[in-house]
Amino acid sequence: MLERIETIEALRERLAEISPAAPKHEVRRRALVPTMGALHDGHAALIDAARRECGVVVVSIFVNPLQFNSQNDLARYPRTLDADAALCLDHGADVLFAPSAQEVYPEPPECTVDVGHLADHLCGKFRPGHFRGVATVVLKFFQMVQPHRAYFGEKDAQQLAIIRRLVGDFNLPIDVVEVPTVRESDGLAMSSRNRHLSPEERSVAPSLYEALNDARRRILDGERDGRAIREAAAARIPQSEQHVVPGFSRTVNVRLEYLEIVDPATMQPVEEVDRPVRVAGALWVGSTRLIDNILVQP
Ligand code: PAJ
Repeated sequence: MLERIETIEALRERLAEISPAAPKHEVRRRALVPTMGALHDGHAALIDAARRECGVVVVSIFVNPLQFNSQNDLARYPRTLDADAALCLDHGADVLFAPSAQEVYPEPPECTVDVGHLADHLCGKFRPGHFRGVATVVLKFFQMVQPHRAYFGEKDAQQLAIIRRLVGDFNLPIDVVEVPTVRESDGLAMSSRNRHLSPEERSVAPSLYEALNDARRRILDGERDGRAIREAAAARIPQSEQHVVPGFSRTVNVRLEYLEIVDPATMQPVEEVDRPVRVAGALWVGSTRLIDNILVQP
């Protein structure tokens, strides 16, 4: 049975009831899958992994105002709580914790988590304050749920690297588990924001993953010059501002925000690709921003 809970007090009471002592044992372990809702198969993969490994599975849904850069993006973020509850039930979650903004931030926080150089590049460069918002809300949810394990997607690799450091830097007794990116059949990484794409925009969206794969091929073929790899890969993406999709009459605005090659742990740029790297990109398709990344071992 799935329980829907909206307050921190009710959550703590319920977790005390369903989580007896001896937490080291697998069946007693508590998992947290933090999300912003509009759940899809990518989120489901996180819940499935948690279900396999832990006795109690908590999914949180909270559209965190502190991590949005634009009021418009926050306002139009999809909210589908009933469908989300059905997905959580299907995948065997025990608790769906969906607090209000008032519950999470009764007043604007004075204390937030400052993220250092891990936020200097990739999304951190283009979304000032975003990772401060993410790290702060994840720390809050860790405190509320007190999980033994927390599940995060590889799709948001910079976020994952930051959460790993959050756990290390603050000595949190939590195992961070990485779950591989779940994709549509044409390679597009699943995302809650994909539902904003028009059919024309949707047809251009896989070009980001194609560009990442182009970079992968070049690295595996022996190319080591990061700049040359990035430039060739970026050329795979429709370059013009107005892109006319074959078969559709309307035009689509496509803009590559970044395509970078970084160290997987520090998220710092790598110029000479002679070790494992993460190739990551962000692409604006119309008014929707898509991100994706892959790990490449030369
Ligand atoms: P959200 O975008 O809802 O993502 C929740 C979790 O699902 C993240 O760990 C994300 O990496 C993972 N995820 C999303 N799409 C995925 C896919 N296609 N394959 C595998 N995993 C995927 O990320 C957030 O929410 C927020 O920043 C949050 C961590 C909840 C803090 O507010």
